[in-house]
Amino acid sequence: WATFVDDIAAILELKEKRNAVILAHNYQTPEIFHCVADITGDSLALARKAQTVQADVMVMAGVEFMAETSKLLNPSKMVLLPSQEAGCSLAESITADDVRLMRQRYPGVPVVTYVNTSAAVKAESDICCTSGNARQVIESLGVEEVIMIPDEFLAQNVARETGVKVITWKGHCEVHERFIPQEIREWRKAFPDIVVLAHPECPPEVVAEADFAGSTAGMSDFVASGKAARVLLVTECSMSDNLAVEHPEVEFVRPCNLCPHMKRITLPAIRQTLEAMSGQVEVDAAIADRARQSIERMLAVKV
Ligand code: 13P
Ligand code: SF4
Repeated sequence: WATFVDDIAAILELKEKRNAVILAHNYQTPEIFHCVADITGDSLALARKAQTVQADVMVMAGVEFMAETSKLLNPSKMVLLPSQEAGCSLAESITADDVRLMRQRYPGVPVVTYVNTSAAVKAESDICCTSGNARQVIESLGVEEVIMIPDEFLAQNVARETGVKVITWKGHCEVHERFIPQEIREWRKAFPDIVVLAHPECPPEVVAEADFAGSTAGMSDFVASGKAARVLLVTECSMSDNLAVEHPEVEFVRPCNLCPHMKRITLPAIRQTLEAMSGQVEVDAAIADRARQSIERMLAVKV
C-alpha cells in the first residue's frame, strides 16, 4: 500500500498540473478504478463521456481501441495511453483489407463492427456497436442479414437475440473464449442460489448457462439492482473486485480470467505517462473522418 499511496498522491497532483482526466474501463484494477479515475464505465459509456471532456488531456486507463475512440470523438484533446502494449485480441484479429474483402464477397450487406477494432477497420465499416448496444444497432438497420465483425461469439449471441442472420469473422476475446459451460454448472452445484452474469463475448453455450448476459455496465447495473445476494461474474477478474468495493453486501464467486492487455495499465505507468506526457495517441487523418462516422452512427442509436 505504501507505493500505491505514493503513486496515487503523485497522480492526483499531476492531473491538476496537466489539466488531465483519467478514463478507466471497468476491468481496471481497484486502485486505478476507485482512487485515480475521473470517468469510469463500459466501452459505450467511456466513448459517450469522452465526447464532452473539457480538460486538455485524457489518459485512457483501458486499451488502445478505447484511446483511439476518445481521440476520434474529441480530437482537439491530447489522449495518452500509458502502455503501448495495451492491445486486444479482437482488434488484432482483423485488418482494413479483410473488411474490404468481406464487402466484395457479400456486396450490399451492411458491415457492423464491434468497437474492439482499430480505427482503420472502423473506417471501412457502416456502423459500430458495443456489447451494450449491439442488439439495438442491428435492429436499427432493419435488414435480414449483416456482416458482424470481428467477434464471432458476440455476433452469434446477438443473432440469437434478434433473429437477424449474421456473417461472422473468426475473432475471439482471449479472456472470454476460455470459459466453458461445465465450469458454470459446477459453480451452480456448489452454490444453488448463485446468479450467473456473463459477458456476450463468451461462447454462446456459456451465455446459454447464464441468467443474464450484458456489457460490463449491464452486469454492474444488475448487481446494483440488488436482485442477487451471490453472483458469479463470467468475465474479467477486476470487474468483481471493483463491484465488491461498492457492494459489500453481495458475495462474488468468480472464476478468474485476467486480460493481459488491460493489466498493462498500472499506477506507475499512469504516473510515468503524466510525468513525461508520453504515449500520445493519434489517428491517421486519412481514415479519421470515416472511422468517426461509424462511431457517431452508433451513438445516434437509442439504447
Ligand atoms: P464492455 O463494452 O462491455 O465494457 O466490454 C469491453 C471489453 O473489452 C470486454 O472484453
Ligand atoms: Fe480485448 Fe478481451 Fe481484453 Fe476486452 S477482455 S480488451 S475484448 S482481450
